[in-house]
Amino acid sequence: MVITDVLEFQGRIKRTLITEEEIKGKLKEYGELLSREYEGKPLLLVSILKGAFIFLGDLSRNITIPHEIAFMAAKSYFEGTSSSGDVKITLDIAQDISDYNVVIVEDIIDTGRTLKVIHEMLKGRKPLSLKVITLLDKPERRVVDFKPDYTLFTIPDHFVIGYGLDCGEYFRNLPYIAEYES
Ligand code: IMP
Ligand code: MG
Repeated sequence: MVITDVLEFQGRIKRTLITEEEIKGKLKEYGELLSREYEGKPLLLVSILKGAFIFLGDLSRNITIPHEIAFMAAKSYFEGTSSSGDVKITLDIAQDISDYNVVIVEDIIDTGRTLKVIHEMLKGRKPLSLKVITLLDKPERRVVDFKPDYTLFTIPDHFVIGYGLDCGEYFRNLPYIAEYES
């Protein structure tokens, strides 16, 4: 998808689902929660690219204890607005995670397939502990059993964009989360 027309670009955005202020409030709450939970412990945040890049940046800045960050990327053969089911790891973390409490930072859990694969993979590397925080959860869409430890917002079965989430690589820069007309 290549969009060069601003009006066409904006016309695709249906309505705001979660405002910038609501996101900021939750970031503060969960930043404080993680800071308390991992105080005095080695903490590694593992973000899943590309969708979680903004969430990771803002969550990290709301965490007041020392921590490290790392990136993984997965391709879920997500064409347009629906997923085919195949998950492939396209970028892996290089470091040994066995001395860390690992928190996976994800943008959205939809079918659950991506996180199930990544969670099992990291669990096999024996971190001190392993948890998952997701910005958004669409539990109605789940096809595999997967429950995150922390969810900032639970949303209905709508395709959403903004705050890191894309459609055809666009809209990641929106500061809010919006429902998208597909
Ligand atoms: P899964 O179906 O849980 O494996 O989710 C795979 C990936 O699809 C997520 O990490 C997102 O990157 C993407 N995805 C799922 N739902 C949406 C959506 O509503 N908007 C944008 N991306 C989505
Ligand atoms: Mg993602």
